[in-house]
Amino acid sequence: MDNTGDTHPSNHVDITEDQTSFFRENGFLSIPRITTDAEVDWLKNIYNQLFDQRTGENEGRYFDLAGPRAHAGPEVLPQVLGPEATFPELRETTYFRNAHQLAARLLDAEAEVVTGGGHMILKPARYGGETPWHQDEAYWNPEVIPHSLSVWLPLDPAAVEGGCMQVIPASHKTDVRWHRHIDDDPLVHGLITDDVDPSQAVACPIPAGGATFHHCRTLHYAGPNLTDTPRRAYILVFGAPPKRRNKPAHRPWQTEEREALANARLST
Ligand code: NI
Repeated sequence: MDNTGDTHPSNHVDITEDQTSFFRENGFLSIPRITTDAEVDWLKNIYNQLFDQRTGENEGRYFDLAGPRAHAGPEVLPQVLGPEATFPELRETTYFRNAHQLAARLLDAEAEVVTGGGHMILKPARYGGETPWHQDEAYWNPEVIPHSLSVWLPLDPAAVEGGCMQVIPASHKTDVRWHRHIDDDPLVHGLITDDVDPSQAVACPIPAGGATFHHCRTLHYAGPNLTDTPRRAYILVFGAPPKRRNKPAHRPWQTEEREALANARLST
């Protein structure tokens, strides 16, 4: 039995030269479809299992992005890291294949050197919190300059009121901004930057099964989920080999988090 929703080669998605130039100029791109409805349904099943079972919680692969580690009470932004470790067939999907191939094209790199993996962020109906303004690179290794982008696939229709992606066009051409932890609590993994002008934001509403690409330096945000349905997103990050920096970038929020986690472990 075919264990993915659909793996037919005709589900290959392509983009135009104009779309590629738009991405390079603006640091983001939305497309209405990256996989089939059948595969979206298949993915929802896996997604629900991972969140219902809090898969990977003991290894730190399941946590609330917007709350302190291991807090009690409802989670506002639960996240599963590396779902492909639990379900390797996620790498064989139409979504993964199209995302990989389109990422290579947008990054102007050979697909062979572009690698990636995923995470899933759930915005529960009515109380799913916002994902504050940030750049993904702020989370990453300060010793390198990455050549990466994220592919954001909603499994539910993503409009502004449900928490679709919002971006600041061309912000990927600037450096990594100053970030801090949400609520200024280094035990909260989620980061926020105040160095942003939200009046410049462009919202990217897309249907379920569509995708929004953003460069690792593009400032982006997703609002709270104000609707009655969950907003399930499966994000894949793809990159070509990074360049080494002469000197590591100064990102003290990363050190603060490591120290806070070490202290929290010592005191329990
Ligand atoms: Ni992000």
